Amino acid sequence: MGEEMGDAMDEKLLTVDDFEEAARHLLPRATYSYIRAGADEERALRANREAFSAYELWYRVLVDVASPSTATTVLGRHVSLPILISPAGYQRLAHADGEIATARGAARAATIFTLSTVSTVSLEDVAAASDGAKWFQLYVYKDRGLTQWLVERAERAGYEALVLTVDLPVVGRRLADERHGFHLPPGMTIANLEGRAAMPEDFEGSLLTAYFSAHLDPSVTWKDVAWLRSITHLPVILKGIVRPDDASRAVDEGVEAIVVSNHGGRQLDTAPASIHALAEVAEAVDGRCELLMDGGICCGNDVLTALALGARAVMVGRAVLWGLAVGGEEGVIAVLDLLAGELRRAMVLAGCPDVASASRDLVRRRSS
Ligand SMILES: Cc1cc2nc3c(=O)[nH]c(=O)nc-3n(C[C@H](O)[C@H](O)[C@H](O)COP(=O)(O)O)c2cc1C
Repeated sequence: MGEEMGDAMDEKLLTVDDFEEAARHLLPRATYSYIRAGADEERALRANREAFSAYELWYRVLVDVASPSTATTVLGRHVSLPILISPAGYQRLAHADGEIATARGAARAATIFTLSTVSTVSLEDVAAASDGAKWFQLYVYKDRGLTQWLVERAERAGYEALVLTVDLPVVGRRLADERHGFHLPPGMTIANLEGRAAMPEDFEGSLLTAYFSAHLDPSVTWKDVAWLRSITHLPVILKGIVRPDDASRAVDEGVEAIVVSNHGGRQLDTAPASIHALAEVAEAVDGRCELLMDGGICCGNDVLTALALGARAVMVGRAVLWGLAVGGEEGVIAVLDLLAGELRRAMVLAGCPDVASASRDLVRRRSS
């Protein structure tokens, strides 16, 4: 454990919630709120987490679980654990090393890091700083030339897949950001687009909302998914699907994977909880493409529940950001180690020696 984690580790950070609490003390209020918040009344944010209580793990006994393995593959890439990193913007707000620390932490844990379009370190600098497996999350700009330029740069820099976020035609209303006047401090930029997509100068409320409405395209449709596939050789993953019919359409369009997600409750506030959506989407997709999910994952039991409901792997957003805030790269590793340990224990107690044995019958709805 690095020295940076010293004080925080004295507090014995045993759960993801402990990391959140430590981060809350360390971060400026506006930054903590930006990371924590959901949209509007935060119903979807709460639902994401609470919905896991609707499921029980119907554990098996007398299975040899002496050497549990969390290893698996995602789109053919070996990962040591079925927990990948969700894209999250502006990570230098959480820690000076920002996206570099998160990418390095993910690489050390032998899992996949996803870089947001709106990162505070450029995609080239992240690639130079970490040789681990990386995906690039894409927003579609009104200027398709700019969008294509991002795709080409991600390809050149060695990113292994494009994660097209499809649940953000406009930014959901995040009251905390409006109240605090979300902005980037001097010296911090949307590094991938420096000099290309200008920051609005006159805006009220949140810079994030003003920037996205100036530059992102709310008219994106399935045609643009086909366009994206036509300009890249990278696998395309759609992130933000919650409906079985949208998922089936995505499979028909030839996407390689889907992230079942409601954007961590930050977009449509009355969206279904991700874990409920996963159960329905998995049934419709029926193995025709790989499924990932994110939203509300805060412990190993949640991960095992998602695997049993049909996810190839889960992704985590805030959990890792709390680790980043508390200890940079060491904090990211600490959170991933924590989740991996919890997942191993859940697997052992549930009679699952490996992730493949997390079959659909391992999970069922609670009757009460
Ligand atoms: C601070 C923050 C920033 C985010 N930025 C992005 C982003 O730039 N692109 C994106 O597709 N999703 C973004 N998301 C959504 C995450 O990728 C992910 O869907 C969500 O955080 C998962 O829920 P969880 O935080 O409960 O794990 C962001 C989420 C948070 C908390």
